[in-house]
Parts: sequence; structure tokens; C-alpha cells
Amino acid sequence: MSKSYPDKVSIVEVGPRDGLQNEKAQVSTAHKIALVNLLAEAGLKRIETGSFVSPKWVPQMADSAAVFAGITRKPVAVYSALTPNIKGFDNAVAAGADEVAVFGAASEAFSQKNINCSIAESLERFTPVMEAAKAQNIRVRGYVSCVLGCPYEGDVSPQSVAEVTRTLLDMGCYEVSLGDTIGTGTPVKTAAMLAAVLEVAPASALAAHFHDTYGQALANLLVALEHGISTIDSAVAGLGGCPYAQGASGNVATEDVLYMLNGMGIDTGVSMDILLEATRHISGVIQRPPVSKVAVAMGVK
Ligand code: HMG
Ligand code: MG
Repeated sequence: MSKSYPDKVSIVEVGPRDGLQNEKAQVSTAHKIALVNLLAEAGLKRIETGSFVSPKWVPQMADSAAVFAGITRKPVAVYSALTPNIKGFDNAVAAGADEVAVFGAASEAFSQKNINCSIAESLERFTPVMEAAKAQNIRVRGYVSCVLGCPYEGDVSPQSVAEVTRTLLDMGCYEVSLGDTIGTGTPVKTAAMLAAVLEVAPASALAAHFHDTYGQALANLLVALEHGISTIDSAVAGLGGCPYAQGASGNVATEDVLYMLNGMGIDTGVSMDILLEATRHISGVIQRPPVSKVAVAMGVK
């Protein structure tokens, strides 16, 4: 059976945020700025540059405003930020974020642990953010986490993923990124989850945000491509999580995604050579070899 895939894929690079927020060691502002600049140089046009959350919860992101201030902006690139509430939104806009992202979970237990409130409360909390963003003409992306499993609840029903997705779109998000936060998903589960979500949202309004904890991300992404999804989130070097903490692991590596898409003849506009420079840079800074198969195969240490 021949499958059809998109001609083009837009990669959303989340390494500077989703990756570095999980690093034990504090990465300096200068190194973060150099990373974002290299990623833009590589041709990535959507870069989640930082997050404006409570520094008590995520100290690694406390310098996001300085990162935004220090980067060399490419006019074609969109530099976005994660914002959990109106305070985060105001700080992100003041720092010059082009776009913001809000986040809700498909699992009640995860919502409590991650942002200290229920799913419904968390979505309500975004209302002022959505209103302010609309007034200021700032696009808002929504994330749904735990779409293929929850560390506290286990299985998550495709229906609850669809419900949260629909709510975020109804609230005014232009796109919803479906996060397999703990990377436990497998292809058939992915297909079932997407089938439910596609009942309530068009593929053009969806992105796949898969972590590679169990080595399933590329297989699951292939399923997402087959379902018409053409926006993929990934992190340079497979950043995120800590190799010493059980169950914690990074986003699918941007270079692994790029290799697969290149091999499928799908256009991304991203240069593998420059991307690998970014991988080399950040791996040196965190003093850990990249977890990406492609980076290792191509000699990045
Ligand atoms: P809270 O403690 O429930 O609420 O935090 P609060 O409103 O009572 O605030 C407590 C303190 O935080 C106060 O300071 C606030 O001013 C401050 P204090 O009076 O104690 O000195 N504060 C802030 N400071 C800076 N920026 C802000 C901000 N808001 C409050 N925006 C809150 C609620 C949501 C803020 C908190 O729980 C938080 O920041 N959590 C961070 C959660 C986070 O970043 N998680 C990781 C991102 S989600 C993710 O990674 C998943 C994703 O990648 C998708 C996937 O992989 O599936 C997106
Ligand atoms: Mg994530």
C-alpha cells in the first residue's frame, strides 16, 4: 500500500526551552544565545527560545529575557516562548517574543504535578493570556501534554486528548502541539489518538511533539505524517531529561527527524551540516555526547 506524505514539514525547534529546562547544570546565557543563533543559521524558522515561568519551578529558564535580548534575529524566523499565565505573557512580550505557547495536559494528575491545578483550571487561567494576545496580535500555540501516556495515571484516553485540543483551538490557539511527554507511545496507539483528535481538528492545526524515551518517536512521527501532520517539534541533540534519572529522556532529536525527512524527500529548509554544529556546541557545553543516532553516526561527540 502506498502512503502519502506531506511535501514540506515545518520543524519547531524546542531544544533551547524543552531541552534546556531539564538540564541539571545551569547553561550560561551566552551559550544559550549561541545555540539559538546556530539553530536559526541552520534554517530552523520556528525556535522556542525560552520560557517565562516561575523561576522557583524552573530555574534553568530564569534568564529567558536576557536570551531574547541577546540573539541575532533572522527576519524569517519566529522566536517563541512558553507562558503559563498573564505574568509570563507580559514578560515574554516585553522580552520580544514573536509568539507564545500555553500548555494543558490530557491527564488530570499530570496537570496537578506540572502546574499545580486541574485541567479545567489551567485552561481557564489562559483566558487572560488569550485576550491579551488577541489585543496585541500575538499568535498563541497550545500544547497538550501526556497525549500517549501519563507518569501518574498510565493510559490516557484519546477522547480526553481530543477534548483538550478542541478547547485550546476554541480559545484561540492557532495550532495545538500533541505532546508524548514521557515517550511511552507506540505507533498503533499514536494512530488511535490521532484518529480521535482529527475528528475535532484539522491536521493543518496540529503538531507532533514526541519524546524519544523508549526509542519510539520516529516510528510515531511517521504515523503522524501519514495522518497529514506537517509540523514536528524536536530538540537539537535530543536535549531534555537527564540520563541519570529513570524515565526522563529528551525530545526526539532534530537531526534524527531531519535525516528521516531528507530520506523521504520532504523539504524542511534545514541544513544538516549547520544543525550538527549546533549539536556540537551544546553537547560541549553540557559535557555530554548527543543521544541522537544521526549525530553519533556523523561523528559528533
Ligand atoms: P504557582 O506556584 O501555582 O502559582 O505557580 P502562583 O501564581 O502562586 O505563583 C507562585 C510564585 O511564582 C509567585 O512568586 C509568582 O509571582 C511567581 P512569589 O510571590 O512566591 O515570589 N510566578 C511567576 N514568576 C515568573 N514568571 C511567571 C510567574 N507566575 C508566577 N510566569 C505556575 C504556577 C504555572 C507559574 C508554576 O507552576 C510554574 O511556573 N510552573 C512551571 C511549569 C513548567 O514550566 N513546566 C514545564 C513546561 S510544560 C512541558 O515541558 C511540556 C511540553 O513540553 C509538552 C510535552 O512535552 O508534552 C510543553
Ligand atoms: Mg516536551
